[in-house]
Amino acid sequence: MSNVVIETHDLWKTYISKERKGLFRSKTKRIHALRGVSFSVYENEIFGLLGPNGAGKTTLIKILTTLLIPDGGYARVLGFDVVRHSDEVRKHLGVMLMGERALYWKLTGRENLEFFGALYRVPKHVLRQRIQEIVEFLGIQDFIDRLVETYSSGQKVLLAFAKALINDAPLIFLDEPTVALDPARSIEIRRKIKQLRDEGKTIFLTTHIMNEAEELCDRVAIIDEGKIVAIGTPEELKRTLKGMSALEADLFGNNVEPLLRQIERLEGVSKVAMSYEASEKGTIARLRVLCDSPREILPSVVDLILQNGLRIYYIKPTEPTLEDVFLYYTGKLLR
Ligand SMILES: Nc1ncnc2c1ncn2[C@@H]1O[C@H](COP(=O)(O)OP(=O)(O)OP(=O)(O)O)[C@@H](O)[C@H]1O
Ligand SMILES: [Mg+2]
Repeated sequence: MSNVVIETHDLWKTYISKERKGLFRSKTKRIHALRGVSFSVYENEIFGLLGPNGAGKTTLIKILTTLLIPDGGYARVLGFDVVRHSDEVRKHLGVMLMGERALYWKLTGRENLEFFGALYRVPKHVLRQRIQEIVEFLGIQDFIDRLVETYSSGQKVLLAFAKALINDAPLIFLDEPTVALDPARSIEIRRKIKQLRDEGKTIFLTTHIMNEAEELCDRVAIIDEGKIVAIGTPEELKRTLKGMSALEADLFGNNVEPLLRQIERLEGVSKVAMSYEASEKGTIARLRVLCDSPREILPSVVDLILQNGLRIYYIKPTEPTLEDVFLYYTGKLLR
């Protein structure tokens, strides 16, 4: 077994926030962002935390990088407790977190990297050389010497990525690394992440993009409402579906809810869910059915759709993905 680099045990985090109730009254509200999270990450793997908005991904990354203190449980990173030995932990990490305070907007990209390199006490001559290598590695020559306030959102993401590499840390945390990137840049960044892993680094990343987790990660933990619902390699996770696969359809029309319940009652159907997407023609309802045999239920599903007065843009049986794993364990779709 390879070395454990991150170990968490029963982590809890509750946010307490004030909610305004009318002009003079407010009510405290508790949000349980993490509810007993335990897992391990091994040396030299790309470990992905996959979950929908609000699942607790950023909260977990903030605890592991010592930016937040958990309310319960513990976490050790590279052998150090994140609360008691936060300085040691911080020294050995590279972190990419998006947010207003992640970068200095009044400095150029290069000046940002010089500043953060100095914070990590990287010697000057090493730093200059390393910045040059990172700039070439990420292909960000075009804009590295411009003020950050002039950057597009994608360029800011790339600079934040560069910043995570500045101290040449063995363990790198990336919070939604491709979120603001166009498809071509996303593919390129995923390739870079793999390259870093192949050079011996350990990567912990969060994503709500199913393909990204599936394509990029050696192991994935699926998180929903503050709890890890499944963990393993993408292949292992799909195997927990016990041979089931999916039927996918894009539908157009009003009142799709009755259809869900009708499909649920068909034989061999495990889970049914719907997500909605805006398009120029109106709202499209994307249906996903997890079942034993999509081909067998296809005719009945088409009948039901038409009986409900809905139109079909397309419908097709598909191989199971991590989306289906998520559906299986939570009854919901990721999006
Ligand atoms: N500072 C805060 N105060 C109150 N609630 C918070 C705070 N930060 C996060 N939350 C809440 O905690 C929950 C988890 O948030 P978190 O940012 O960890 O989710 P996430 O998985 O990173 O989501 P996303 O995919 O949208 O980035 C959400 O319900 C969120 O609204
Ligand atoms: Mg987040």
